Amino acid sequence: MPFLQLKQLSYRHPNQHSGLQAINLALQKGEFHCLLGRSGCGKSTLLKLAAGLLKPQSGHVLLENQLITHPAQQIGFVFQNPTLLEWLTVWDNVLLPATLQGKPTPTQQQQAQQLLHELDIADLTSRYPTQLSGGQQSRVAIARALLLQPPLLLMDEPFAALDALTREQLQDSLLSMCAQHQSTVLFVTHDISEALYLAHRLSVLEQGQIYHQQAIALPQPRTDALRSQPQFIELANSLRGLIKELI
Ligand SMILES: Nc1ncnc2c1ncn2[C@@H]1O[C@H](COP(=O)(O)OP(=O)(O)OP(=O)(O)O)[C@@H](O)[C@H]1O
Ligand SMILES: [Mg+2]
Repeated sequence: MPFLQLKQLSYRHPNQHSGLQAINLALQKGEFHCLLGRSGCGKSTLLKLAAGLLKPQSGHVLLENQLITHPAQQIGFVFQNPTLLEWLTVWDNVLLPATLQGKPTPTQQQQAQQLLHELDIADLTSRYPTQLSGGQQSRVAIARALLLQPPLLLMDEPFAALDALTREQLQDSLLSMCAQHQSTVLFVTHDISEALYLAHRLSVLEQGQIYHQQAIALPQPRTDALRSQPQFIELANSLRGLIKELI
């Protein structure tokens, strides 16, 4: 049984003349799945439907065979914009999911500390969001989503505001954290190389439908050296060609 199933999902925003049409997508437990597609094709909308933040006009979402109709605790979400609470410090923003359940436990505080360290923002804990750069805000939002180690992570271009090197470091940290916790991830990106580096499988969304899906047969665990290897570059070129033909 797949861990996450999107079944015949359709959704059209008010005033939109076309939208997502009967999307089917199934992710196995522990799968890292990347979603590619041009701007405006509906990637964020699809992620919000998967999270129960939007209600589909038809079809449904199943997480471990349970119907998702509203945001659930097993789902961590990283929005395309970091959406931090401006009146809370970095530390309190990261601990927010725990605070909402009561007083954060020492283990949760330790986990927050470790995430801040891994995301290289440990020295910013007492700052407020307006005192951070865009990339730092993104990292705080990622730490917040990972705090409770949710079994399903939905991430909407989480690394878009980062420079190339930081981005590559964070890709490695994310992969190792996900492998450690057997997290299942649906990850939106515009970046073909990023998708290939991260994904076990990927889907290309276009005109409200999944036009292409492929498994990425690259060695696991991924290492930085892979990025310059011929098989990686060839795969990136062929995927780029395919996407160009589609859109
Ligand atoms: N709240 C809304 N009300 C009406 N239309 C919306 C709303 N949110 C998104 N849309 C429209 O729905 C379509 C899909 O938007 P969505 O944000 O899902 O795209 P996307 O693939 O994530 O794009 P990007 O890569 O630019 O983030 C777009 O045409 C957008 O203008
Ligand atoms: Mg988007």
